[in-house]
Amino acid sequence: MENFEFFNPTRILFGKQAEQKIGKLLKKDDIEKVLFVYGKSSIKDIGLYDRVVSSLKKEGIEFIEHGGVKPNPVLSHTKEGITKAKENKVDAILAVGGGSVIDEGKTIAVGAKTDKDIWEYFKRDKVIKKALPVYVILTLAATGSEMNGFAVITNEETKEKLSITSEHIFPKLSILNPELTFTVSPQYQAYAAVDTIAHVIEYYFSGQYCPNLQNRLIETIIKTVMETTEIILDEPQDYNARAEFMWSATLALNGLTRLGIKGGEFPNHMIAHSLGALYDLPHGACLSIVIPAWMRWYKDKNHKQFERFAKEIFNVNSAEEGINNLKVWFKKIGAPVSLRDAGIVESEISRIVENAYNIAVVWDMAQKYSKEVLTEILKNAND
Ligand code: NZQ
Ligand code: ZN
Repeated sequence: MENFEFFNPTRILFGKQAEQKIGKLLKKDDIEKVLFVYGKSSIKDIGLYDRVVSSLKKEGIEFIEHGGVKPNPVLSHTKEGITKAKENKVDAILAVGGGSVIDEGKTIAVGAKTDKDIWEYFKRDKVIKKALPVYVILTLAATGSEMNGFAVITNEETKEKLSITSEHIFPKLSILNPELTFTVSPQYQAYAAVDTIAHVIEYYFSGQYCPNLQNRLIETIIKTVMETTEIILDEPQDYNARAEFMWSATLALNGLTRLGIKGGEFPNHMIAHSLGALYDLPHGACLSIVIPAWMRWYKDKNHKQFERFAKEIFNVNSAEEGINNLKVWFKKIGAPVSLRDAGIVESEISRIVENAYNIAVVWDMAQKYSKEVLTEILKNAND
């Protein structure tokens, strides 16, 4: 096992009706005024908005609303949130929603504590020194943002989708009630499953050495995600399936699965972020297009691990069969598996390559992911 340091300060409150406690928990932390960040309509449709408001009012906690966060959250709306947070001198951010809402909330938390242009942090030109505390009520299990120090924002003017990472943006508290995810559509459940699998396989495949403990932990998460997703697609209100899926998604990107692995990168996310930035596709859909293509390109660089994956996950013998089976499963749950499935024509590949290469430069991966390599991978994704 490689040496490692593990730090995760997020308190998790998991279970039925847990969100009712939000007012009390904020009060306990001496929070008097929050910026209440949410998406378009889902929290109102499921009655969660009313429950949150009544819990805040009951404890006398003031709130300023910042609704309308869009999937693949954008810089302009984030900046509006930063202005509101500063003008109203809020003590904390309360993000109620999926990964997009949480990420915009985390970014506002950083922006509220600096006079610098927030985008400089995404370009990695500045290091985050402080942020407002972030509180989360999760309504869509997928990204792991509820228990990690990442946030991803799209600069819609420059078409760049970039991330920040800092110990200051781990949520202080995240409330995970699986019942709040009963209404997540089959389509988004499929994207969530792809995203969770993506989070665990990036290091599993791209690392040069993966301890058996980590291999097994990752394979357990993948099997649980596949099993529970099939149940959820059949029976959206199956509590235990929603609960196991939710916790799997959190575990997949809270730092635990990558400990002790030698090396490791996030190449599938790098390319997927370009598809998100250019075509505004859901994050999981970008990944289901990229992953089989990247796997085909990479498999001979870590052949044993691909064979292990094929055997453990699908009980087949060859790396190629493992990749095909994963692609077939993505298709079965309703995720796109090629650029063509997403309506992107082959002539667009050079544009995607340019965009992905810029991310590779910011992420310090450009040496391995040259434009030629990116072109080869994306050609695999064509159909
Ligand atoms: O806007 P509303 O009306 O709330 O609807 C949302 C949205 O349309 C809906 N939704 C959320 N909860 C629901 C619900 N619909 C019905 N019932 C519910 N309970 O779902 C749609 C998608 O929501 P979104 O938050 O965009 O999805 P997700 O959680 O997949 O987040 C995706 C974003 O997170 C980033 C992605 O790049 C993307 O921008 N990621 C963040 C990461 C992180 N911070 O660690 C890591 C990931 O790799 C990823 O990059
Ligand atoms: Zn992801």
